[in-house]
Amino acid sequence: MENHTRPSATVLVIFGAAGDLTWRKLGPALYNLFEDGWLPEQIAILGVDGRASSDEAFRDRLRDGIDHFSRRGKADAARWAAMAGACTFLTGDFGDPQLYASIAQALAAREKAWGGPANRVFYLATPPGVVSLVADGLGRAGLARTAARTRVVVEKPFGHDLDSARALNRTLLAAFDEEQIYRIDHYLGKETVQNILAFRFANALFEPLWDRRYIDHVQITVAEQVGVEHRGGYYDHAGALRDMIQNHLLQLLCLIAMEPMVSFQADEIRNKKVDVLAAIRPIAEERVQDYAVRGQYGAGWLEGERVVAYRAEPDVNPASNAETLAALKLFVDNWRWQDVPFYLRTGKRMAERASEITIQFRPVPHQSFPPTAALDWHPNRLVIRVQPQEEIVLRFQAKQPGPVMRLIPTDMNFSYQSAFQEAPRDAYETLLLDVMVGDATLFMRADQVEAAWSVIDPILTVWGAVTPTDFPNYPAGSWGPEAAEALIARDGRSWAAAARPTSPPSPLS
Ligand code: BG6
Repeated sequence: MENHTRPSATVLVIFGAAGDLTWRKLGPALYNLFEDGWLPEQIAILGVDGRASSDEAFRDRLRDGIDHFSRRGKADAARWAAMAGACTFLTGDFGDPQLYASIAQALAAREKAWGGPANRVFYLATPPGVVSLVADGLGRAGLARTAARTRVVVEKPFGHDLDSARALNRTLLAAFDEEQIYRIDHYLGKETVQNILAFRFANALFEPLWDRRYIDHVQITVAEQVGVEHRGGYYDHAGALRDMIQNHLLQLLCLIAMEPMVSFQADEIRNKKVDVLAAIRPIAEERVQDYAVRGQYGAGWLEGERVVAYRAEPDVNPASNAETLAALKLFVDNWRWQDVPFYLRTGKRMAERASEITIQFRPVPHQSFPPTAALDWHPNRLVIRVQPQEEIVLRFQAKQPGPVMRLIPTDMNFSYQSAFQEAPRDAYETLLLDVMVGDATLFMRADQVEAAWSVIDPILTVWGAVTPTDFPNYPAGSWGPEAAEALIARDGRSWAAAARPTSPPSPLS
């Protein structure tokens, strides 16, 4: 995240190299870093997996992933040939000490060939169940030593609840120092998410208004059109609260609610975020139904196509009670935010794909225009669109041209695409580069992860204990169950994204 120079010699060891994440995300990200000149000159990518493969098959699979998912489109044959040689594969059982001995040998051989020590990055692109096993194996083989240049990257989900997250932290910390552990929340690598810090703290304009005196409430929506795809086995034991709210949505909330950082140091920024999580008002188990809503999609229509119910998805229990939608109302109990509600919602198979944050400002203190002029009046609203449109929109009132005074809401629009004329980098490019140079700003510290689990633990407990009676309760292709509307409507408000006008940008944009 800081101003990087190209990383020095690095061996990247990917556990779970035959898996989906390596294919979809890591391969394309590494290729794009290579294309942009960010990969170290001396780089080795060692894929490790229990599923037997070969160097050739590993390279073919990486290339296939690049062809499918890279932001540049298909790999260039000559450029890929130049990179493919750095990729090798090792088959081994993650519980077998011999595997770690072979990795140690491969690392030593690389460093010898390069004539000096290299960064060692162990990327755990593995199912959560084997993270402890690999961390333990690395520790026992002495591969976690040389703290300054050895790092381990851990993917989410980080635990299943507060207790399991604590246990996982203990296991990781038995082998590695906290400074060596890079817990990924890929939302933090998105350009539009990083821009929240720039928007808030590099501009003097909004910060004086950024508190309970001027802000009525905040909404954070991450709506997806996709269902669970091929991840039913994992998702059925996770659900939307664990899969999205515990990490991505709470991190967005932290960026909106945090106090200004004093410096751009990783720990300074992370401290400010932990302060927000610690200030979130705990939800008592007996009040969960007042603050949290769950939903599960039934069959429905999306963009003209019939889609099946969650319970009919592959690898999902046909009587599953996993929630595919969660909506929450939270409060941040501190001077800045006391009594300002933060409404969060996320769901799969929703009407639109939209990740956005809405800052709803309070009404003007006194309405001086005649009622006929202010018929369409709306309070100011700032919308930070993370994806798929990448933009910031400020709604304000303007006088409609004409002989009478008539106010209409209009939008001022900043679009990444038109401002910068280039597609943003994928989050994994940013995050992989940060790991290689040793910048932990965009990664989760142990206390952050645990604080986030503390926020949702009471909801998990209640939802785990009480079987929902109305699942499925929203059709695929809708904006979710009525109860999610009621959660916010009870406070006299409504979700902003669902009400988004589809009209073209106004002439003032
Ligand atoms: C992942 C979740 O962390 O984020 C998925 O496990 C979800 O269920 C995905 O689909 C969404 O990420 P993005 O970048 O597509 O918004």
